[in-house]
Amino acid sequence: MHTTDSPSIGRVVEITGERALVELTADPTRRTAEGCYPGQPGSHVKIPFEEHNIVGIVSGVRMDNGHDGAPTRQLADCLLVGTLYPDGRFGRGVAVYPTVGQRVGVVAPEELRRILAEFVQYGYAFGRHSQAEDQRAFVQADRFFGQHVAVLGNTGCGKSCTVVSVLQHAIRQYPNSHIIVLDLHGEYASAFPDNALLVPADKVELPYWLLNFDEFQALFVDQNEPTAQNQASVLRDAIVRAKMTTDSNEQLGLGKAITADAPIFFELPEVLEQIRSWNIQMVSNSEGRMEPGPLFGAFDKFLIRLDARTSDPRFRFMFAPTSCTNDGHLPGLLRDYLSIDTGKRIAVIDLSAVPSEALGVVVGVVSRLVYEFNLWNPVRQHFPVLMVYEEAHHYLPSRLDPRFATARTAVERIAKEGRKYGIGMIVVSQRPKELSETVLSQCNTYVAMRLSNPEDQAYVRKLVPDSLAGLMNMLPALRTGEALVVGDSVPLPTKVLIDCPDPRPESTNVEFCRWWTEGEPLDVERVLKRWRARRKDL
Ligand SMILES: Nc1ncnc2c1ncn2[C@@H]1O[C@H](COP(=O)(O)OP(=O)(O)OP(=O)(O)O)[C@@H](O)[C@H]1O
Ligand SMILES: [Mg+2]
Repeated sequence: MHTTDSPSIGRVVEITGERALVELTADPTRRTAEGCYPGQPGSHVKIPFEEHNIVGIVSGVRMDNGHDGAPTRQLADCLLVGTLYPDGRFGRGVAVYPTVGQRVGVVAPEELRRILAEFVQYGYAFGRHSQAEDQRAFVQADRFFGQHVAVLGNTGCGKSCTVVSVLQHAIRQYPNSHIIVLDLHGEYASAFPDNALLVPADKVELPYWLLNFDEFQALFVDQNEPTAQNQASVLRDAIVRAKMTTDSNEQLGLGKAITADAPIFFELPEVLEQIRSWNIQMVSNSEGRMEPGPLFGAFDKFLIRLDARTSDPRFRFMFAPTSCTNDGHLPGLLRDYLSIDTGKRIAVIDLSAVPSEALGVVVGVVSRLVYEFNLWNPVRQHFPVLMVYEEAHHYLPSRLDPRFATARTAVERIAKEGRKYGIGMIVVSQRPKELSETVLSQCNTYVAMRLSNPEDQAYVRKLVPDSLAGLMNMLPALRTGEALVVGDSVPLPTKVLIDCPDPRPESTNVEFCRWWTEGEPLDVERVLKRWRARRKDL
């Protein structure tokens, strides 16, 4: 099949790397026969070369000024992305580059349809192409879900709606999906009325005995205290002892192979009691008289911290579990969170009530549990899991912060190794620059939405291959719900109009004008009651 001939809209005046500079000869304000405006950023052009056509995307247009400063010609910057062969196939990359003086045409709608349909057999799409609105934007779903996605953009540009749309299409299409959403603002529940396990804020439970030793340390040991190392070693010792003495130990058949990291139930008071007894231990001296031992009083502050945190009502979800109180409950918790045999396809965990000091640990523990589950899962290749990290800059900061070390370690591990263990992730943020670089740089698909902060734009430009950096100039001009999708899971970097989710998440813009006009009576006592009890159901 030969590609369609189209009238020329300009000619190549410069080629550098993967970029072609095209002098426009057609009027950019008049539609071509193909129905598009020549030189529109985001539009597709083709440069015939022997039998094939080299395909490019316009990333920007500008006026070239002559010596006297007067505008002389219009130039379009084009990124060369692939080759359209005579048989109708489209291949990424350019084997033979065009040269200056060559004529440039626009890609005809049916050609664009063929190019964009590369992944049509996956049947998975969550939007339409901005340049060809009648066409679904099909993605290579295995790569999309398995090799990490970053959704980036200003507040209100449509990130949460995009993620909801992605997930709604996924759970409608895949009856055995396993998805965990860490929902920081409690927005997602309303978007998943069916097929979803919704864990409301006041029902979130992550029992302390699921924490591994590093996570315990992060919560209790203050690394700035001189006795930090001693604190860590007594904590480890006390936890292992407590795990060994539980009744279920015999049933689990682990014997002496128990480590401080194993997800085994133990009684927390036993740990506190043990450390308390070391703190007041007396030893007999050479004369046989009792005197304070070497650790006497060394853990006073540590014990206060242990007591204070374990009895803090805000940490009840961790230290006073009500439903996950022995080893027998762990399979149920994992089945729920991972949607195994529950008839659900997604679990939405509302973290809006988790105190900020504990957020890092909670995200870290959930991520690590999922990772370790699949690490030990003999059939992990048949059990792919998707993690969704909303507002990730809150707990995956780019700078080192001990409060979020647990989350960073666990999520960075998924970013780096998750692909091998069948764990993909979608990370969402409005401040890419403040987000862990390791996590972002491991993403293979970027859904870049409207982004106006120049620092963040520059940062996103650095994340994508050099050749695509020019396309990022479009970011500030994107519409709400429109994204530039770049990466291995799309045939071409394209602007996509994301489907409006149905139902929507609870993130609608507040109507200031209406409510400032109409007003509404408000029960302040009720607000306070919910606030004090930290419960949204009151
Ligand atoms: N694909 C879309 N189609 C139509 N409207 C949309 C779309 N995406 C977003 N919107 C509109 O934009 C509003 C904000 O979207 P959303 O909550 O997804 O933004 P956000 O980027 O997640 O913001 P934040 O960073 O503050 O969480 C929505 O309430 C909706 O009205
Ligand atoms: Mg959001």
